Amino acid sequence: MVNPVEMEQGDQAESPLFSPSLQAIPMPGIRRMINTAAGMDDVIHLSIGQPDFPTPQPIIEAHIDALREGKTGYTMDAGLPELLSELARYYSKRYDRELTEDNFLVTTGATEAMYLALTATAAPGRQFIVTDPTFLLYAPLIRMNGGEIKVIPTRPEHGHQVDPQEVIDAIGMRTFAIVLNSPSNPSGAVYPRETIEAIVQEAAYRGVYVFADEVYDHILLDEDMEFPSVINCASDLDHVMSVSSFSKTFSMAGFRIGWMISSQGAIKKLRRYHMFTTTVASTPAQWAGVAALQGDMACVDDMNAEYRRRRDRVVELVSETPHLTGYVPQGAFYIFPSLPPRTDATDLSLRMLRETGVCVIPGDAFGDTCGNAIRISFSNSMDNIEEAFARMQPWLAKQSF
Ligand SMILES: Cc1ncc(COP(=O)(O)O)c(C=O)c1O
Repeated sequence: MVNPVEMEQGDQAESPLFSPSLQAIPMPGIRRMINTAAGMDDVIHLSIGQPDFPTPQPIIEAHIDALREGKTGYTMDAGLPELLSELARYYSKRYDRELTEDNFLVTTGATEAMYLALTATAAPGRQFIVTDPTFLLYAPLIRMNGGEIKVIPTRPEHGHQVDPQEVIDAIGMRTFAIVLNSPSNPSGAVYPRETIEAIVQEAAYRGVYVFADEVYDHILLDEDMEFPSVINCASDLDHVMSVSSFSKTFSMAGFRIGWMISSQGAIKKLRRYHMFTTTVASTPAQWAGVAALQGDMACVDDMNAEYRRRRDRVVELVSETPHLTGYVPQGAFYIFPSLPPRTDATDLSLRMLRETGVCVIPGDAFGDTCGNAIRISFSNSMDNIEEAFARMQPWLAKQSF
């Protein structure tokens, strides 16, 4: 239920068997939370990192049909041709930019796409600018390959928006790339067009790359919100890579189908690397993806309408909760409120879990500057959300900071 990456432990890196580079994989407090929760009854999980809706039925049917029809061999290295052409059609329209099949690489989830992008480029002497908090995949992959991280902290008072000028000012001689994640896990911030445009344009001008994790590109929580992708904000694709997947949009996390969009040159190079990593993504699951893109998007709108209803209520509940400072997240299904400065949110979350049965994710899983924050996921029913806050509010009121 928590993304397995979020639970990863680095303890095996201390064994002589493994490469010292594995020590770059962090040891967040999440494992202790999940292990503790597993031994308890009556836990309400506000820790969930995947949609809580069933996968739409036509997608399931397409997956089963593919299996029955014997579509069980390898696909082409870049992906199933039918999926590549659906992706090119869909995203050309969505981003108002002509994209061909050669601009796409189908991967085993956005995770593999990000793995390819970061590990194919990170190297000693190359610095990557990363926001803090951010999804915990990027920094370890960069460090494992000798790259250096420069952190740009974001704050709850500003809805965890990144200041584009701060990013631009941080670009120095060693800066190689900027990693963006919008809508963001854990903050739910969606960067506006001006932010993305300013960053990608300045980056291209300075010869810096922008790697964008856009896995929540469809989970937008304000009415009629547009999604500014690096793909439609860049003048050309030479300095940008965008990754996304079916996991969140269509509630298909276990199908493990994602992709990368970039210049044809970059895709051609990464196809070969992909062959040496996972070879190809699951064939029946790619057929399920074709059905998702060809089908009615009403299922996505329905899920979003429910996330929006929950977001509105969670924002209200957070504002009524003693010691929590919130804001309004505009995307994904998370809010990342702060506790008073210098609070050890890992310790507090563990005690809160033991004493109330509510499981949240402590902020230190997402960066060094947010140890006093917690990630609350609203990928759970409204009843469970209400019950969780009914337990948390009186408990937090009794805590002294
Ligand atoms: C920001 C972010 N990127 C990537 C992923 C992984 O996506 P996928 O299932 O497509 O590998 C997640 C999943 O939690 C995520 O939150």
